[in-house]
Amino acid sequence: MSKFKIEVDGKTLEYPILVGSENEKAVDIAKLRADTGFITIDHGFLNTGSCASAITFLDGELGILRYRGYPIEQLAEKSSFVEVAYLLNWGKLPTSAELSAFEKKVASFSTLPEYITKMIQLMPKTTHPMAIASAITVALSGHYPELNNPNPTPAQKDEIFALMLGQFKIITAAIHRTLRGEALVASNPTLSYCEDFMSMMGMKASKDVAKALDVLLILHADHEQNCSTSTVRVVGSSNASIFASISAGIDALWGPLHGGANQEVLEMLEEIQKAGGDAHKALERAKDKNDTFKLMGFGHRVYKNFDPRAKIIKKACDTVLAQLGVKDQLLDIAKGLEEKALADDYFKSRNLYPNVDFYSGIIYRALGIPTNMFTVMFALGRMPGWLAQWKELRETKETKIARPRQVYNGETVREYVDASKR
Ligand code: CMC
Repeated sequence: MSKFKIEVDGKTLEYPILVGSENEKAVDIAKLRADTGFITIDHGFLNTGSCASAITFLDGELGILRYRGYPIEQLAEKSSFVEVAYLLNWGKLPTSAELSAFEKKVASFSTLPEYITKMIQLMPKTTHPMAIASAITVALSGHYPELNNPNPTPAQKDEIFALMLGQFKIITAAIHRTLRGEALVASNPTLSYCEDFMSMMGMKASKDVAKALDVLLILHADHEQNCSTSTVRVVGSSNASIFASISAGIDALWGPLHGGANQEVLEMLEEIQKAGGDAHKALERAKDKNDTFKLMGFGHRVYKNFDPRAKIIKKACDTVLAQLGVKDQLLDIAKGLEEKALADDYFKSRNLYPNVDFYSGIIYRALGIPTNMFTVMFALGRMPGWLAQWKELRETKETKIARPRQVYNGETVREYVDASKR
């Protein structure tokens, strides 16, 4: 089939079909309204492609996730977060020399502008770390006025990519330390990305544990057109700066149905623990349609068999806890909950499986990261994906401002009534 045919009022119209490199098919309905007066409607964009992208491929039915063609399992085992970031942005694995130069460049952004540190200090201690992360990211635009250009030169794009990876690592650690009333620890450019991060956070940084954290960041690095990435693209499409686009992405990630789920999972497991460890009540509440409670860390818009990231994380969880000598009852509760849910008809019939957030919090907790910082950790991991997607958007000649239509269902025209007569 080379054209998609639609019949409207007895007239057959043809629309172009696009086929992706993994044989994903789409119909281009850009002219539908002009031809027929119809728009399409698709709440939550279940069936709407917003772009063509060469960055990440995922197949939800088969549980496949690949960055630039490389399976996530291979990258998690053999690569590093900084190498994966390079891959996402430039589309190829770096040579040793390229990787080393890129690592040095990222590490060279080793201090924060003074006003940024002060801003973090000025935020009330009651502020959620994601709110600080978002505010600080857009505030960075003031330090790099020349990089606010929506169409940066190739050299500026490289600069933006390295500086955001370098600065956001320090911002994350600075938020953590400041909220706890602790002095900041300087970045040490001679350490690896994760070792330096852990040192700035004040965490014990053995090579094994830093590697575990590195794997977590790799697993979060990109996930095609999810809520926060789509937000980055929507904001970027208005020619807003990279800083504004990423800040908006951080806000979208904060939501409990998206990245914020990792914090909610841990809080849910702690609740179950407090109530004596019985997961039954949580399962019953999650199934009750009159209750807004959901089993956090379960279900996914795209994965309908399993989330390949969750498989890797579950394994890593056992390893990290063993390496750290931590025995965490929450891990047993999580495993018990997963087992019960997977055997339950409600979850089976709806294809609900643990997602990336179900076990990640247990690892963060074992590393000593407080619960309210979990979603910032997700943002740290997602940063290269957002940046690469923004760059791709800006380099795509078909890019237009994102501006969906609507079906208006409010009042039809009526006469204004004077206040005294209402
Ligand atoms: N607990 C109980 N029921 C659920 C859950 C859950 N976690 N997830 C979905 N359902 C039910 C939902 O009520 C609906 O039931 P019914 O068909 O009877 O109305 C059915 O399953 C389909 O769910 P949906 O809400 O239509 O699916 P969606 O694709 O719109 O939502 C989701 C996907 C991830 C938002 C949702 O599964 C959810 O809220 N999960 C919990 C939050 C969570 O863990 N989010 C992290 C996602 S992975 C990290 C990331 O990349 O963002």
